[in-house]
Amino acid sequence: MPLDRFQREIDYLRISLTDHCNLRCVYCMPLTEIGYAPPAGVLRADEIERVAKAAARVGFRKIRLTGGEPTLRPDLVEIVERVARVPGMRDVAMTTNGILLPRLAPLLKQAGLRRVNVHLDTLNPERLSRLMRWGGFEQIWAGIEAACAAGLTPLKINSVVTRGFNEEDVVDLAALTLERNWHVRFIELMPLGGGECARESVSRYVSNVDTRRRIEERFGPLAPLEPLHQSDESKNYRIGDAAGVIGFISPVSEPYCGSCNRMRLTADGRFHLCLLNDDELDVRTALRESADVEALGAILLRAVGAKPTGHALSQGISTRERSMHHLGG
Ligand code: GTP
Ligand code: 5AD
Ligand code: SF4
Repeated sequence: MPLDRFQREIDYLRISLTDHCNLRCVYCMPLTEIGYAPPAGVLRADEIERVAKAAARVGFRKIRLTGGEPTLRPDLVEIVERVARVPGMRDVAMTTNGILLPRLAPLLKQAGLRRVNVHLDTLNPERLSRLMRWGGFEQIWAGIEAACAAGLTPLKINSVVTRGFNEEDVVDLAALTLERNWHVRFIELMPLGGGECARESVSRYVSNVDTRRRIEERFGPLAPLEPLHQSDESKNYRIGDAAGVIGFISPVSEPYCGSCNRMRLTADGRFHLCLLNDDELDVRTALRESADVEALGAILLRAVGAKPTGHALSQGISTRERSMHHLGG
C-alpha cells in the first residue's frame, strides 16, 4: 500500500468526473462567475480507466466518483463499467445529489457501482430550495429511493450544516435513522476557493459539537460505534436501537488529517494532493502522450509522496484556485 511522508496509507482515489452541476448549493457554487475547465481538457472515459488501473497497480483499493455532479457525464455508465472491472478495487462508490438517480440507479448497479452517498441538507422543501437553490426535495427523495431499490447500499446521506439555513433541521434528518438503515452524516462547512462561497462560509459555519447537542437534546445520549476503518473521517453513533447510523464529519472542529487516506483526481487531469490545499501534479500530459500504466503509477506515487501534512483552516488558509465543485469533497 502506498505510504506518504507521514506514514499515512493512501489507498483511496476520489475522481471528479466534471466540475459542472445541476444545483447551486449556497456553500458550494456561486450563481455567477463560475470557472469551468475547457471541455477538451476534461479526461475521457478511457483516460480515467488508465488512471484507475495505475492506481490499483500501486495499491489503491477504493475509488469514489464525484463532481461537481458526476451524473451529468453522458458516459457515466461506461466510466463505472471501466473502473469497476479494474482488478484489485474493493470499493467503487459515488457521491451525488441524487436528482438523476431514478433513471440511472439500475444501470449503475448493473455496471458495477457498489453504493452511493447522496447529498440532502434538510427534509423541509422550502428550506431545501433556499439552501440547494435549484434542487427540489421530491426529486432528491425519489433519487434516494431509486438508489435503495437498485441495491446501491449502504446508503449514506450527506448534510452540510449551514447557519441560517438548516441548523435546526438536523433533528429530523437524524430521525430518519430510527426506521431506515441509512447513514445520515453531518458535515462541517469548509471554505474553499476564496470566492463568495468561501467568504460567506465563515459566518455560516456550525460546529458539529452544536449539531450533536441538538440531536442529543431530542434523542438522549448517542452511543458511539467502533470505526470500521481507522481512516474513516466520519465518527459514527446510533440512537438507542435505531436501524441506521448517525455520523459527524468534523474537518474544522476535529481535523482528521493525521489519518487521511485520500488522493484526488480533478476532471481536468491533475492529482490534487489535499482537499484544502492548492498543490497539484499534472497527469493529463502523460495520459495524452500515451504513458503506460507503470509510468502513470509512478506519477501517482510522486503525488502521494508530496501530500501535505494537513490543512491550515485555523490560520485562515484554504484553496484559492479550486472550489468545492472542482473537487467534489
Ligand atoms: P465513505 O466512503 O462512504 O465514508 O464516503 P466519504 O465520506 O469518503 O465520501 P463523501 O464524498 O461522502 O465525503 C463526505 C464529505 O467529507 C465530503 O463532502 C467532504 O466534505 C468531506 N471530506 C472528504 N474527504 C475529505 C478530506 O480529505 N479532507 C477534508 N477536510 N474533508 C473531506
Ligand atoms: N463544505 C463541506 N462540505 C461541502 N460539500 C460541498 N460543499 C461543501 C463545503 N463548502 C459536500 C457535500 C457533498 C460533497 C460532494 O461535498 O456534502 O455531498
Ligand atoms: Fe452540486 Fe454537490 Fe456542490 Fe451541491 S454540493 S452544488 S450538489 S457539487
